[in-house]
Amino acid sequence: MRGTSRRGADRASRLARAAALNGTSGEVCPADRATLLLEAIIEPGDRVTIEGDNQKQADFLASALAKVDPARMQGRRLAYESGEWEIDLARRELRARGAPVPIGSRAFDIIEVLVRSAGELVTKHDLASRVWPGAIVEDNALQFHISAIRKALGPDRELLRTASGRGYRLLGDWTFQQESTSPAGSIDLEPVQIAAEPFQTNLPAAASDLVGRTTAVRHLRDLLSAYRLVTLTGPGGIGKTRLVLEVARGLFPSFQGDVRLVELASLSDPGLVPSAVAGGLGLKLGGDQISAESVARAIGAQKLLLVLDNCEHVIDAAARLAETVIRMCPRTTILATSREILNIEGEHVYRVPPLDVPPQHEEAANISAHSAVQLFIATTRAVQSDFSPHDDDVATIAAICRRLDGIPLAIDFAATRVTTLGLQQVAAGLDDRLGMLTGGRRTALPRHRTLRATLDWSYELLPEPERLVMRRLAVFASDFTAEAASLVVAGGEIAASEVVRSLANLVTKSLVTLEARGVIAHHRLHETTRAYAIEKLAESGEFEQVARRHANYYRNLFDRAEMEMATLPARLCHGN
Ligand SMILES: Nc1ncnc2c1ncn2[C@@H]1O[C@H](COP(=O)(O)OP(=O)(O)OP(=O)(O)O)[C@@H](O)[C@H]1O
Ligand SMILES: [Mg+2]
Repeated sequence: MRGTSRRGADRASRLARAAALNGTSGEVCPADRATLLLEAIIEPGDRVTIEGDNQKQADFLASALAKVDPARMQGRRLAYESGEWEIDLARRELRARGAPVPIGSRAFDIIEVLVRSAGELVTKHDLASRVWPGAIVEDNALQFHISAIRKALGPDRELLRTASGRGYRLLGDWTFQQESTSPAGSIDLEPVQIAAEPFQTNLPAAASDLVGRTTAVRHLRDLLSAYRLVTLTGPGGIGKTRLVLEVARGLFPSFQGDVRLVELASLSDPGLVPSAVAGGLGLKLGGDQISAESVARAIGAQKLLLVLDNCEHVIDAAARLAETVIRMCPRTTILATSREILNIEGEHVYRVPPLDVPPQHEEAANISAHSAVQLFIATTRAVQSDFSPHDDDVATIAAICRRLDGIPLAIDFAATRVTTLGLQQVAAGLDDRLGMLTGGRRTALPRHRTLRATLDWSYELLPEPERLVMRRLAVFASDFTAEAASLVVAGGEIAASEVVRSLANLVTKSLVTLEARGVIAHHRLHETTRAYAIEKLAESGEFEQVARRHANYYRNLFDRAEMEMATLPARLCHGN
């Protein structure tokens, strides 16, 4: 077929017809559909040629149309501007000096309501009812989104003012820009509703019940409406993938089913990250070079939830891809899982906590309310249906879960061992947990087949100085400060300053946990990570030397404390 678009034809009505046609492939003859779609996309006067299979052409054009930004298709720009900032209502984009600043969809709704109010106070009630119509919104959900907007505004965060207890206003000298960018002239058209669903979902169905995590799921949903890139991080086996899939499934309706999972664990070459994402999205990109940019261009303005699972071993490439997509695709949200954070602009990090473990002296009747114990019992029952623990058994399960730091993968391993070893034997064998907890499922990922393999995966990704610091840290049986670490770990090939730097990296890679108590930050290795690090320290032949430095450090600390006590006035020492 050969066709020329009609010069001077009314672009608005053509767009409306094309939008209506798109998605009605069964009812319209392919040739007509192709012509109409093409006419909608090209400018009047362009000469076009369609040859070959009309059905294929129509499908191609339909997917092209779906990727075209509705605002651009309408040739309109609707934006508020103030200084370096633009709030683009058509593209639903916040920009600083022309560059998009990532912000979640509800956070954008809030800023839109505020900017339309021209500096007037918008009460909390008014804001909540316009952004969450018909829903009951708690104060902290609103505050949470407000702080996401402030974070996006960065140095200009003061533009968003809180009127204490009453509401919010957006300051600034905002002017409204409504202009046509189309050579066809001004068009008054309602936003085009694009019905295409080219991505659909490839998320697997849940094979078993998710235990606990009610708060985490709710919190993650809130995060995703405030931010467009959320990374779930935490040590191997903590349940990042499991949680992310649950959250993504719950978001089907918001994304009209356009939710795609891209599993990066099996990639060994970081250069293949863009192709893996293109493949996961079903994008057919021409040319040999598939880049982060070409993937982002192909996604365009389509609404999509992209789940990038297991980024840590290709972290730089995954971070680059995520940053490019977030910048270039205003309606794409990314949920990533990674043992190491991506560390890019716009990222909001959620540290997946362990499952809830009972405290040491928990009443027997309350122990089963803790999610770690529930997972242990559910997993044991899955392999031994008559498993019904008595009070003493439940206390033993609680102790096992505590020693496994509430990490679901380790709990899974221990629970499946109960059928062959018995509960008491599993509890007694935890000192050699790396030798005992080996019974991963046949179909599990290689790094989930044994507890040791899970730690190998992280350890092998570390550069040598961080490996050295991690294994020397094994001498600390409990919390330690950065100062203690630098004095005990430094020596030989590593200086104190490098120890502190490596320690910070081990925190971002989820191998060391950090807890701020008062002004001093306390670090800790999970018991399983420590068991692994002790093995590595012993293999390195440095165990005794590092243990001696550790003992000296604490002896000096106590000597110093004793001397300081001696200089205090007697009345303070005796509490008079
Ligand atoms: N809340 C939960 N309820 C039931 N099972 C869980 C839960 N969390 C995790 N698991 C199970 O624990 C195992 C490890 O979880 P998952 O694969 O999500 O860990 P991960 O943090 O993604 O690990 P990695 O860093 O190695 O990718 C899986 O078998 C998973 O099904
Ligand atoms: Mg995972």
